[in-house]
Amino acid sequence: MCGIVGYIGTEDVKETILKGLERLEYRGYDSAGIALFDGDQVRVFKDEGRIAHLRDIIDYDVKSTLGMGHTRWATHGKPNKINSHPHQSIEKRFTIVHNGIIENEEELKERYLKNIKLESETDTEVVAQILSKFTTEGEEVTLAIRHLMSEIEGSYALAIIDKYNKEKMYAAKNKSPLLIGKGDGFNMIGSDAMAMVSHTNEFYELDDGEYVEITKDKVEIFNIYGVKVNRDTYKAELDSEDIEKGTYPHYMLKEIDEQPFVIRRIIAEYQDENGELKLDQDIINKIKNSDRIYIIACGTSYHAGLVGKYYFESITGKPAEVHVSSEFVYNTPILSEKPLFIFISQSGETADSRAVLVKVKKLGYPTITLTNVKGSTLYRETDNQLLLYAGPEIAVASTKAYTAQIAVLSIIAVKASNKDIDLIKELSIAASVMEALCDSKDLYKDLAKEYLSETRNCFYIGRHLDYYVCMEAALKLKEISYIQTEGFAAGELKHGTIALIEEGTPVIAVITQEIINLNTRSNIKEVSARGANVITISRKSISAKSDQIVLGDVNEFLTPLAAAVPIQLLAYYAALDRGCDIDKPRNLAKSVTVE
Ligand code: F6R
Repeated sequence: MCGIVGYIGTEDVKETILKGLERLEYRGYDSAGIALFDGDQVRVFKDEGRIAHLRDIIDYDVKSTLGMGHTRWATHGKPNKINSHPHQSIEKRFTIVHNGIIENEEELKERYLKNIKLESETDTEVVAQILSKFTTEGEEVTLAIRHLMSEIEGSYALAIIDKYNKEKMYAAKNKSPLLIGKGDGFNMIGSDAMAMVSHTNEFYELDDGEYVEITKDKVEIFNIYGVKVNRDTYKAELDSEDIEKGTYPHYMLKEIDEQPFVIRRIIAEYQDENGELKLDQDIINKIKNSDRIYIIACGTSYHAGLVGKYYFESITGKPAEVHVSSEFVYNTPILSEKPLFIFISQSGETADSRAVLVKVKKLGYPTITLTNVKGSTLYRETDNQLLLYAGPEIAVASTKAYTAQIAVLSIIAVKASNKDIDLIKELSIAASVMEALCDSKDLYKDLAKEYLSETRNCFYIGRHLDYYVCMEAALKLKEISYIQTEGFAAGELKHGTIALIEEGTPVIAVITQEIINLNTRSNIKEVSARGANVITISRKSISAKSDQIVLGDVNEFLTPLAAAVPIQLLAYYAALDRGCDIDKPRNLAKSVTVE
């Protein structure tokens, strides 16, 4: 969702900000804008559309060493030029970009802006106008910012330029992500490290309710009462090469191909010097001391959570439930006596999951986060953290983070169990099988062309663990190819959905579990008899001659890792065939920072 990047230093800022915004494109956006302070006035260029378009509308004669940019994912008002950020206060003193949602916008307008005609439909402009009102009434700027923060309900990462101070930039944060990048002779702000990593890998994290004054040489953090906060910087283990596409046409394809390597890196990171799997003893104790595990996640991470539930129950012997965060928070089930909460989130910033975290922390329950982003909000706010080591995932559709989540969940489940499973060996086999699957791209390309290039809809069917894989497969296909796809428990088809099967409907069956092999094959017969065009993905030792995609043999419980590769590549090639914007599907954001 919305991305922010800002810079103050001695060099002209345009390229730094534009490149930073390009690095944030993966978060999803529909408009973009930039503010350039030329020392006299703050010049704003913005419009609906991509950053490539923003590049076309900027006046390159404007020279500026202080500026900021924004990618907007519309929440308040349509994506158009007027609603794009930056927004300016009426007398153009303050220029503001914002990520988040001001929940009491209407109330604030009523209280402070009755006589002001707002230009846009955004909550951000409200912030700019109120700041201007407070300063016009005599408040010094930092007092006005604190006053503003105390009035706002909701989430915000704000970056502010004050026309009367060309040596300074301000930022404030509550619930939305914002980092400060520390440089030598310059400083930056950004929604995440990716926007700044070409310039610095040293960062300050901000806590909720803090604001910052940033000059080219100094970063000063304050709490809402104006008390200075001492904060050390941290180094991000992020290489700017990690976030390049290299020779790949899309990040998604690169990230699919990286999966075997990610699994091997996870094995290495979770191994001790004796070559044994290791896991923080505190995490093992938390699992042992709990009477039920509640896995909380959204989207693809939720699908990994379903596999995790199976691991906890079948390997660890611990009851587990998986919940979609946005449901759990407002419709919380009756909890067990000693619940343990495990949050799964690639970005670590998902607002729905964080809302659950805030709730269960208030109740005093133990919490663990599995995330790909060290230092992210969920990482910082839970008791224990486990990293996914997948490297930056830039394509909006999650691939390598999903398989990394499953691999790390298997490690937790095995380490918290008494079972003697040689997981290092089993994960290594899975990595090799995934590698072989990645090497057969022509097969998926051909199947996607034949079965998916023209279709209106598609069904994935499977049972047991394969059902969870089907749910993820359906999400992957629908989100990047826009084919209406559903993932079904194969046995449920005949209870209603089979009515949708007609001549030529693609049905993709996943069969990796021996116990359901024959049942799912019966379901294939049922849909074939009604005209479906079936693709079957099966595991080698239970495969039939006619199965089009055969996964090498991996341990049965790790088949979701192997099956992930064909389902991701089928989605990729279907989307490619249909001319879709694969890395940035319409309406979607990578980091969903609003509820
Ligand atoms: C789909 C996808 C999303 C995310 C979901 C949660 O490909 O990427 O469904 O899985 O938005 O995001 P995280 O894992 O960052 O909490």
